[in-house]
Amino acid sequence: MKGIILAGGRGTRLYPVTLAVSKHLLPIYDKPMIYYPLSTLMLAGIREILLISDPDSLPLYQKLLGDGSQWGISLSYAVQEAPRGVADALRVGASFVGDDSVALILGDNIFYGSRLGRQLERCINPDGAIIFAYRVQDPRPYGVVVFDQAGNPVDLVEKPREPISYYAIPGLYFYDRRAISFAQEIQPSGRGELEITDVNRKYLEIGKLHVEILPRGTAWLDAGTFDTLLRASQFVQVLEERQGLRIGCVEEVAFRKGFITREQLLELASQYQNSPYGAYLRQIAQEKAE
Ligand code: G1P
Repeated sequence: MKGIILAGGRGTRLYPVTLAVSKHLLPIYDKPMIYYPLSTLMLAGIREILLISDPDSLPLYQKLLGDGSQWGISLSYAVQEAPRGVADALRVGASFVGDDSVALILGDNIFYGSRLGRQLERCINPDGAIIFAYRVQDPRPYGVVVFDQAGNPVDLVEKPREPISYYAIPGLYFYDRRAISFAQEIQPSGRGELEITDVNRKYLEIGKLHVEILPRGTAWLDAGTFDTLLRASQFVQVLEERQGLRIGCVEEVAFRKGFITREQLLELASQYQNSPYGAYLRQIAQEKAE
């Protein structure tokens, strides 16, 4: 299964912060935002990943992430000329995906929770689509899923005016090969975007949309506004300081998943010089060796 990270959009809600810097390069506490979705795909076991961003930002991502070989994965890059919506990532990534299945994640979506990795591993190569539902206080900024009495999904609505469902759909989607052709078929919405909700609706129509509710012990955060950006940093800081374990640490995930050896992890640690991040990687390498 291939993976796509969409690090697109202009980040206008964060102006002037994002006038010169791509949103997904901003820090969430101690690492760039993009590390979080990348580590989520890696936790699912996905190792062939395409990153999509605007022409100005792409070289910066390449500088930060390279070809992925240092983490035992393969990273490639593609340009999205204009922010045409989430589903456009499936058009831009069509040749990369080929006949494979694909997981798509948004660059500003952060997932954290026990057993999440195992849950995601089970979503690899689905028959149809697997999306998630997460209870939120205010569903209006999101796509939402409406369930019937038996808990089956019956409707999907992008940015509902009224809170018709408290179940928001997080920006992480697992698709079989049909997703690419569905994305070619849809038309831009009222806000001029190719909506991922329309792709998901196609799966609902053919009876192939599986919706998994993320348990309440899971954290799903996005980081597109000043407040959510700060809150996400605070969340990560509180947990990391308490436990001494880092969230969204790509090097650690690569090591624990067996994508890289202990020696490779120590080599990566040495690049970070006197950053506490490097010290953490050394600690992980040592703990695992004991
Ligand atoms: C997008 C999707 C929406 C989803 C959200 C998750 O919204 O369109 O369905 O719930 O991501 O972050 P957008 O970022 O385009 O507002």
